[in-house]
Formats: sequence, structure tokens, C-alpha cells
Amino acid sequence: MEQIKLDISNVSNFVSQATIGDYKNRVADANKALHEATGAGNDFVGWVGLPSSITEEYLAEVEQVAEKMQKNIDVLVVVGIGGSYLGAKAVIDSLSGSFDNFNDKNKNPRVVYAGINLSEDYLAELRVFLKDKSYGICVISKSGTTTEPAIAFRILKNDIEEKFGKEDAKNRVVAITDAEKGALKIVADNEGYKTFIIPDNVGGRYSVLTPVGLIPIAIAGFDIRKLVEGAKLMEQNTATEQEFENNIAGVYAATRNALYKRNYKTEILVNYNPKLQYMGEWWKQLFGESEGKNSKGIFPASANFTSDLHSLGQYIQEGERTLFETIISVKGTKHKLTIPENAEDHDKLNYLAGKNIEFVNEKAMLGTLEAHIDGGVPNIIVEIPELSEFYVGQLIYFFEKACGIGGYLLEVNPFDQPGVEAYKKNMFKLLGKE
Ligand code: PA5
Repeated sequence: MEQIKLDISNVSNFVSQATIGDYKNRVADANKALHEATGAGNDFVGWVGLPSSITEEYLAEVEQVAEKMQKNIDVLVVVGIGGSYLGAKAVIDSLSGSFDNFNDKNKNPRVVYAGINLSEDYLAELRVFLKDKSYGICVISKSGTTTEPAIAFRILKNDIEEKFGKEDAKNRVVAITDAEKGALKIVADNEGYKTFIIPDNVGGRYSVLTPVGLIPIAIAGFDIRKLVEGAKLMEQNTATEQEFENNIAGVYAATRNALYKRNYKTEILVNYNPKLQYMGEWWKQLFGESEGKNSKGIFPASANFTSDLHSLGQYIQEGERTLFETIISVKGTKHKLTIPENAEDHDKLNYLAGKNIEFVNEKAMLGTLEAHIDGGVPNIIVEIPELSEFYVGQLIYFFEKACGIGGYLLEVNPFDQPGVEAYKKNMFKLLGKE
């Protein structure tokens, strides 16, 4: 089974392989601390052994619930914010056709999101969209009290009960929340919704492989077994027994950390495939919330190339020299599309006639890579054979593991997010909450 690849050869002008190699023992200690739950935030390392602990019975139950929902609905509304929706959207978007959501003939439910902002227009327009649809809701909140999804669910719950009747509505709602505490748990129990539990020892941004991600991904029609299989392979290949050189999560964590020490303070996660835009959003939360504390941490940004080369390209090439890039390079395409010959050739593209578009995309990537390195921007490449459940599962676990190790290298607790409360405190005060 093929593993995704990490290529750090393009950082050698900026930080030597020997310097990265010097991290060997610290990476091993950090990895051990994650596996043995002895580091900071050790009550939130349940994700480390999660892929290999997922049982056949559990997967079958998720699939059964998903199938039942799929039969009933054309649209799935995922209600949740931050770690309670980004992972699912990252995976679903990576695996979906670019226009699936606009194709009524698509056999899988279209997935839309609510509770991801406080925009009145967004929610009002979503309600109009849902009016003539057969829809279901997957409401996800570990605390059950997060303002954005709580407001959205209060409104959508009324709507779904009004449209389908209280009894039918019950079969159209799945709740994913904490085992014991939280308002959502009480509502779900009172209403008799099918409920899945978010493990206590897994925080929001590490929860893609819990029901938080698996339920929406399965309802959207994707193979959660392959996703888990990919993550499991990465769990094995980044285990404590692996040599530093073979543990790509450890090498990635060490390389980022070494660059950070040389004043490269912003990392841009780059894709050349728009399906990966939300992988970037998920990754930003993962690394931003995990590392950004105690006045430390690499600022995580993302860019969608070649699109953003026409907007951010100038800055990356010649702006302040504190940036480095990590490219997710997908080798295979799902479709083949060649550039046609044109007799007049006004656009002077005949030199590319007969070539695939991906051939041009690849040359754009290589050309950009070279230019950015020349311009003083170190580049890391994560290479994926294709966008499939198996490789996306690997990618998710790879980033999670690198983030856990990297947090310990930086000497922060990668599993808390105390800073997120600051805006809430002010907002609640302004809203007059008791
Ligand atoms: O990573 C996190 O902990 C956050 O992004 C949460 O997932 C987010 O705030 C949503 O929290 P909850 O699931 O409790 O509604």
C-alpha cells in the first residue's frame, strides 16, 4: 500500500538536513509523549490511537445510519463550527466532483453547512433553499452550547418539525455530542434523536475520525472504511518504533520547527487543486489553535494556486522574507482533458495542443516552486497519488501527528485553545448574557 510522500529537499538552501536531523531525539520524545499520554494536554490524545481502535461494528453502525438518512433526504445540513465541521467539509470537498452540489441527479445528498457564522442573510437564504427540499440535519457540538450552531439549530429544528411533522423530523436529525454534559445532549435525549458520542479525550480539531467527521462523510456517500484504513496506515508508519527518517510526520514537524527558528514565521499551505481549499481551512485551525499560544507559533495561511498566484503571487515572490510554503501535490487526476488544436492560433496556444491540462498545471507548479525558492521562500512538498478516501485519510492523520509532535517541540500544549474564549466573553457581555 502506497504512502503519501514528504519531500524536504527544497528547504536545504535555508536550513540544512543536518539541522533537521538534530531534531531526531526530540521528535522521538515528543512522539512517545503523545503515544504514552505523558505530555501537556495528555487528556486530549485520544486521537493518537483512534484509527486502529475503530471496530468493524462501529463502522457498520455508522454506515447503517448513513444509509437510512440517504434514503430519506436530498440535502444534508451539517450544523457545527470549527472542529465540528471543518474536517468533514475538508474530506467531502476533496472527494466530491467540483459541481456535484449543483447536479440534482447526483445520487448522494448535497451537503450544506449551518452554524458556521452569525450571518442573518446566510441562515435566511439557507431556509429559503431548504423550503422545497427533502432534508436532514446532522447537528454537531461537543459542548452543546456554542452560540453559532445553537442559534442555527434552534431555528432549523423548528423548520424541520414544521415541514415534516415532529415524528418524521426525529428520523431526519442525527446529533453528535458529548456523552454526558451539554445542552445538545439533553435536547437529543428528549427528542429521541439518533445520537453519536464524541470521545472525551479528542478535541474538536482532531476529531475528523470520530462521528464528527465519519457521520457526515458517510451520509455524503464516501467510503469511511478506506478513509480509516488510510489513517491507520499513517498511524502505523508514524508510530514510536519508526526511525526518524521514515516518520514523515516527525520530519515535517522538525522541518517546520527548524524554519521557524530561522525566522520563517508564516507557513502557507498551497494546493493546485480547488478541491483542497477546505483542507487548507481545516489545516489552519489544526495548526493555528494548536501552536498559536504563549506568544509563539507559525502563522498558518493557505493559498489556492494557480488562482492565488494572480493575487498573492507578488507578495510571496518579493514581500517580507518570513514565509515558507508546504505544497500538497496531487499526482493523479480523475479526468483527462486535452487542449485542442486551433487553425488560427490567435491565442498562441497551439504549442500545447494535445497536452493535458494537468501537464500545464504541473509545469506551473514546478516553475512556481523554482521561482519561490529563488525568491527566498523555502518549500516543502507533500505528494499524494490521487484524491481518494485512502490517501485523504493518510493526509489527515499525517497532519494531526505532525501537529502534536510540533506542539511539543515548540513547548506549548497543542490540545487547548484558551484564547478562543476571549471574543466570546466580550460578545456575551455585549449581548447581556447572565
Ligand atoms: O477545536 C475546537 O475545540 C473548536 O474549534 C471547537 O470545535 C468549536 O469551537 C466548536 O465547539 P463545539 O463542538 O463544542 O460546539
